[in-house]
Amino acid sequence: MPNITFSSPLHKDKTIYMPAGSLVKTVLVMAKENHIPIDFGCENGECSTCLVKVTNLSNKGPMAGPLTDREITVLKQEGKITQAQVDAMKVNDLVTTEWRLACQMVLRDEDLLIEYPSK
Ligand code: FES
Repeated sequence: MPNITFSSPLHKDKTIYMPAGSLVKTVLVMAKENHIPIDFGCENGECSTCLVKVTNLSNKGPMAGPLTDREITVLKQEGKITQAQVDAMKVNDLVTTEWRLACQMVLRDEDLLIEYPSK
């Protein structure tokens, strides 16, 4: 089972061991359950308040769950993903951006570094 490290210049780093049952949860849900102060607003993939930078530390392949349509729309509006990256992601089935919305990103069995706030 993976370890998720939350890092912010404003707070002390915190690493959380993810039990098997948590791999259906979003980053934001896990952060809230572990008192990690990631900013959030809509919790519905529409406002970009929960934008985080994600680095895969386990080299196990695709980074977390695929981007949702809402996530793609917001990341494009924020300039965090290009149409070319979206197209490549659909062809290769790989996440092509390090930027994610914590309220949309579902965790998988991989070690991650999640940096916040990221604006
Ligand atoms: S809280 Fe609004 S996009 Fe995540």
